[in-house]
Amino acid sequence: MSRDNAAVVGVGIRKVTLLGHPVLRATARRLKPEEVRSADVQRLVREMAVTMEEYDGVGIAGNQCGEGLAVFVMGLPKGTKRHPDGIELTVVFNPVIKPLGDETQEDWEGCLSAPDLRGRVRRHLAVELCGLGLDGKAFKRVYEGFPARVVQHETDHLNGLVYLDRMDGLKTLAYMSEMGRRA
Ligand code: NI
Repeated sequence: MSRDNAAVVGVGIRKVTLLGHPVLRATARRLKPEEVRSADVQRLVREMAVTMEEYDGVGIAGNQCGEGLAVFVMGLPKGTKRHPDGIELTVVFNPVIKPLGDETQEDWEGCLSAPDLRGRVRRHLAVELCGLGLDGKAFKRVYEGFPARVVQHETDHLNGLVYLDRMDGLKTLAYMSEMGRRA
């Protein structure tokens, strides 16, 4: 699957759920491999990918598209200021994270479900991510740095958590427009 293919088959852009919608605070339902391979779920993940791109996100979770299913999509083209290396477009069902080592890193995060805001969040520097891939087969990969942060943020979503819950107080919470003026 690629961003272009998703557009070609004419899948729709989803409305992103905002904080206050109960689906964002619920634990998402895990999927069986045969469900992952079903036409409906395959279509959903294509729609999640085009929605993420439309809203200029780096990741998007199933509940952010109004579906209480344990799946997230992430991806970022190469060459952006956020992370020049980019992130390969990846779909993971039933994600489970294992921190690798004790090292943590604090950085800015934002969320499509809390538009225009940014806050500092401390995350594990490296994690192992396990789940099911787009083909319904076991998926396991190690992430470090910014991609590890995205993986932790999206997995949190599927457990009913948002980055604001992970902030060490709200003193760094800021509107992007105000931050931009001071950059
Ligand atoms: Ni988010």
